[in-house]
Amino acid sequence: MPRRLWWSSFLFVLGVIGCTSPPTTTKQDRPVHFRIPSHFPPMVHPTDNEPTEARLEFGRRLFYHTALSQNETTSCASCHVQSAAFTDGRVTSPGLNGHAGVRNTPTLANLAWSPYLMSEGGVPSLELQALAPLHEPLEMGMNMMIAVDRLNQDAYLRTLNQRAYGRDSIDPFTITRALACFQRSLISGDSKFDQYKMGAAELTSKEAKGLALFSEVGCANCHREPFFTDYGFYNIGLYSVSTDPGLERKTHIKSDSGKFKTPTLRNIAVTGPYMHDGSMSSLEEVIAFYNAGGTGARLQDERIRALHLSAEDEEALIAFLETLTDWNFLQNQQFTPLSE
Ligand code: HEC
Ligand code: HEC
Repeated sequence: MPRRLWWSSFLFVLGVIGCTSPPTTTKQDRPVHFRIPSHFPPMVHPTDNEPTEARLEFGRRLFYHTALSQNETTSCASCHVQSAAFTDGRVTSPGLNGHAGVRNTPTLANLAWSPYLMSEGGVPSLELQALAPLHEPLEMGMNMMIAVDRLNQDAYLRTLNQRAYGRDSIDPFTITRALACFQRSLISGDSKFDQYKMGAAELTSKEAKGLALFSEVGCANCHREPFFTDYGFYNIGLYSVSTDPGLERKTHIKSDSGKFKTPTLRNIAVTGPYMHDGSMSSLEEVIAFYNAGGTGARLQDERIRALHLSAEDEEALIAFLETLTDWNFLQNQQFTPLSE
């Protein structure tokens, strides 16, 4: 091989290695601006956790990382599956070593706007929320320091951590922040209903009738636009005596027993089974329950009362609920697991 040619191929190989090797700590992290649908309120970020490329990538990798669970088999995504709007299709989710869980896995869509988390609202921010499943023996059963040690053995993750938060080693502060940053990016506002709101799609007459009924019979009082929740707590009368205390667990007030945070209805057609304990398997069942006016339990909210809807009305309500599915969200490539 002539000397000049040998040199150029050597430089070429160096160039390729240079491009594929992990980014170095000197590489500048860049801010990311989320695209917020125009009919959503602005998103407020904690000042110490504005989204950046490195924070989002780090959080996304952690979300799919099994190092976060004690036996290294479970990640956040084991229960929060993108194609089901970050739910898992199970009644309640089995936790570590097959322990039975007690609650149905909720969607993670649009949590950036949620003033508190969990069905009794006991957790004030996404930054603090990430600690809950890690320590919960039923979910990941993990000691945070073991997770920290495991993650620090991965040089690429350490580099990301440094770029994202300027710290040499991964610690509980950076893990919880990165997970929160990634979860704020899970924005769902591109369903047929949203396109209709923006004048870019039309509803069928059945869907339009369902939308009108949704307001007329009072669903919209609690499931309020644009997130289809008012973040309030209500006992909708599922049980005469609730086995799950719900809000009472937080407030210790007896009359709060069986109250749960109004869930969002975005992507509802793909997030069944329904209710905090997954006790209803279909939307038909949910609508029949509301139509009957609940069970008439002693602590049932007075707004839940018999609706006298016809079978046609019930179908229209379901057709409307189905327009809340955001297919782009369920397939968004920015939320999928990253390869090595
Ligand atoms: C074993 C299944 C399981 C795993 C693993 C899991 N979760 Fe959850 N997640 C749940 C369940 C069930 C709830 C509802 C708990 C409740 O309301 O008491 C929940 C609730 C949440 C909430 C609150 C949602 C809301 O609307 O208030 C967030 C945020 C969340 N999980 C994020 C995560 C993150 C981040 C991870 C990984 C670190 C994770 N989850 C791991 C099952 C799981
Ligand atoms: C008084 C407030 C209130 C009213 C009115 C109300 N809901 Fe709800 N809805 C809730 C609460 C709270 C829950 C969660 C209950 C639980 O998990 O135990 C819920 C749960 C649901 C669910 C299941 C969500 C999930 O992810 O599991 C659907 C679907 C639903 N409601 C639709 C409707 C429809 C349709 C109407 C009108 C016919 C309606 N709701 C009226 C407060 C309300």
